[in-house]
Amino acid sequence: MAKPVTQFICSACGATHKKWSGRCEACGEWNCISEEAPLSAGPGKAALGAAKGRRIGLSDLRTQENPPPRRTSGMAEFDRVLGGGLVPASATLVGGDPGIGKSTLLLQAAASFARAGAKVVYVSGEEATAQVRMRAQRLGLADSAVMLAAETNLRDILTTLEAEAPDLAIIDSIQTMWLDTVEAAPGSVSQVRASAHELTTFAKRRGVSVMLVGHVTKEGQIAGPRVVEHMVDTVLYFEGERGHQFRILRSVKNRFGPADEIGVFEMTGAGLAEVANPSALFLSDRDAPAPGAVVFAGMEGTRPVLVEIQALVAPSSLSQPRRAVVGWDGGRLSMILAVLEARAGISFAGLDVYLNIAGGLRISEPAADLAVAAALLSAREDTALPRDGVIFGELSLSGALRPVAQAENRLKEAAKLGFSTAIAPAGCKFGAASGVKVQEMADLPRFVGEIFGAG
Ligand code: TYD
Ligand code: MG
Repeated sequence: MAKPVTQFICSACGATHKKWSGRCEACGEWNCISEEAPLSAGPGKAALGAAKGRRIGLSDLRTQENPPPRRTSGMAEFDRVLGGGLVPASATLVGGDPGIGKSTLLLQAAASFARAGAKVVYVSGEEATAQVRMRAQRLGLADSAVMLAAETNLRDILTTLEAEAPDLAIIDSIQTMWLDTVEAAPGSVSQVRASAHELTTFAKRRGVSVMLVGHVTKEGQIAGPRVVEHMVDTVLYFEGERGHQFRILRSVKNRFGPADEIGVFEMTGAGLAEVANPSALFLSDRDAPAPGAVVFAGMEGTRPVLVEIQALVAPSSLSQPRRAVVGWDGGRLSMILAVLEARAGISFAGLDVYLNIAGGLRISEPAADLAVAAALLSAREDTALPRDGVIFGELSLSGALRPVAQAENRLKEAAKLGFSTAIAPAGCKFGAASGVKVQEMADLPRFVGEIFGAG
């Protein structure tokens, strides 16, 4: 029998290598490769051909399948991100920076599910049960029927869950779990991968919903992350800026519902409070019209969200002017600056540019392009845009404005929050219901000419 070969695994992307090196060739990350024992020897390749497998029953695609029954927690923001509630026999990964509030969120969710009649087990590998209880007291959940355990041995945990047969099991966190069959430290790629595999197969086999907490490294990845993301049905990220009290739960993958759905929470002294109307929250501290501030009518999943985009442009003393972005993609900012220069003749050379999405929200929609361009221009020209208007539209490299989806929903949200005008690409489906007056724009030069009187 061939002797098991040790392998070298990248903790950032999960790629395996034959020998150690300082840099992972797969993802380019430095100092992330560590030696680990192979998962298991398994049957040799030759054995597969010789020994016949069991014949599997095939079923017809055309068979009607009922939608999965869902269990709602009563925490509307949480249920929404799950796609309308928790699906039985599913595995969900909740990732986020350490200290962002994952344990708080899941303890509150656990209590809500328990209140709604579910049997919930919460296993903490990071805190003692007394600590979890103290937190529950602080959150006003001390009398909830959640069952607690502080344990990291996955074999014991699975045996217990098998016997208890709960509806929902929460494992906080996957990085602390260890399997005695794997010769690697807890938190290593092999352990995380094997533990997540055991837990997801357990979820399917026993019809238990399993939620795994996963810490994200500073590069924004869960240790051994890619592998875990593939295994689970749903991946949620809990994000937010530490200085802000807002927290956003975002679904980045969902086998049972739409991805990119968000739930908005506010971290208070007594835990996380749901925010039913995020637009009002993100716009709440607006005062007098200011140059560089623009309201973008965005969509987060199926939900319209209005958010202020702020830009600051100042003469630079550096040979290479600063380009700083919070809440948006830096590459996309460079693109907008290039399009402004090439198509509208407006140069930002010699100027520092700062761009910020207010409230700690992170936007990835291309529909924000025009609002970003408007904020940059408004800051550069020192001209405030009218307070009663919203902007959205995608910019192409040619300077043309592309229509964006869900224009009608964006306008309706704007109307709801008291906005009366909008600037948008020509050719969107605006509908008539909103009552917002839309100024349609075909391209960037026209936008610059009409709004800023320059070109
Ligand atoms: P926690 O849920 O422990 O984070 P994670 O599990 O993601 O590491 O949250 C820790 C932070 O949340 C901590 O800095 C304090 C803050 N917090 C509050 O502001 N209010 C509260 O009621 C609770 C329980 C925590
Ligand atoms: Mg925690």
